[in-house]
Amino acid sequence: MICYFHDIKKANIMVIDDEEINLEIIDELLNDEGFSSINCFSDPKEAIKHYRQFPPDLVLLDLNMPVMNGFEVAEQFQIINHSPPPPILIITALADRTTKLKSLDSGAKDILSKPFDDQEVTRRVRNLIEMHLAHKKNLHYSKNLEHIVKTRTQELLETQNEMIESLGLAAEYRDNETATHTIRVGLYTQALAIQLGLNDKEANQLKLASPLHDIGKIGIPDNVLLKKGKLDTEEWVLMKKHAQFGYNILKNSKSLLLKNAGIIALTHHEKWDGNGYPAGLHGSEIHLYGRITAIADVFDALTMSRPYKKAWPIEDAIQLINDEAGKHFDPSLVESFNQIIDKLLTIRKDNSD
Ligand SMILES: [Fe+2]
Ligand SMILES: [Fe+2]
Repeated sequence: MICYFHDIKKANIMVIDDEEINLEIIDELLNDEGFSSINCFSDPKEAIKHYRQFPPDLVLLDLNMPVMNGFEVAEQFQIINHSPPPPILIITALADRTTKLKSLDSGAKDILSKPFDDQEVTRRVRNLIEMHLAHKKNLHYSKNLEHIVKTRTQELLETQNEMIESLGLAAEYRDNETATHTIRVGLYTQALAIQLGLNDKEANQLKLASPLHDIGKIGIPDNVLLKKGKLDTEEWVLMKKHAQFGYNILKNSKSLLLKNAGIIALTHHEKWDGNGYPAGLHGSEIHLYGRITAIADVFDALTMSRPYKKAWPIEDAIQLINDEAGKHFDPSLVESFNQIIDKLLTIRKDNSD
């Protein structure tokens, strides 16, 4: 990291020494070197107040002071905890080994003995400031980077979710379904997931993924998909392929959300008793997400009207779901369904066609 000469000379330097004459000497020395922002304090308490509000880029600190010694001042600075901590350069007449080691242990970056060599002081001052400014720049850079990554990730997530919603809508528009069908199925599956004890993140994933359950209908020809009246055996075989088609569309995605949507597309017509399609899976062989979506999808299909059929009375729809526990549906999911029926009806009311 490069620090420009200009930045170094403008750095904020704090000097703390109980003897005014020492302050004057250092102030003059640094001024002569071109440093333009020097704050001198003979009272350490004043210095601490200033330090708290205006973190300096370097502190020159005397050790032997009457009210509060240099170690106590350094300790206060550590408690204030600026990030990054301004370096401390101890300037002291107590230049014995123990003091030197104690100074370095108390957080000082460097130590100089009085009487000091002017040239040595200015060079050490410059080096310490240069290091600190580089540290500050680095910290700023990584914080900025962190922020950018966070924003971009959020944007990417939003784009992904938008794409998923659009895909779901596209599929439903081809079908006789409405846009709100996919929204309701998403919200029903989320509510069921929460009731089952899945965490919020997973429940939210399900809300986003389950609306894609019929995406595979894109692959079904119009004469079958939009046929008025009953499908013949051959047409029905073709229609059932939408589950596999949906899976094929989504299975290779790198996104876990889309992968899960693929699993839902594949399994949402499987039945608990093994009489579903495409694989005729039994019970818990069927992925939980598929089992949840199956209830949500059927409940919505029954309780909403379509151009070709009237909505069932709610009680009848609830009855059918319960009659199908252990046949079409996972019985424990039917139990959860019964427990949150009021919630599901509110979702239905708030998201009607
Ligand atoms: Fe379907
Ligand atoms: Fe559906």
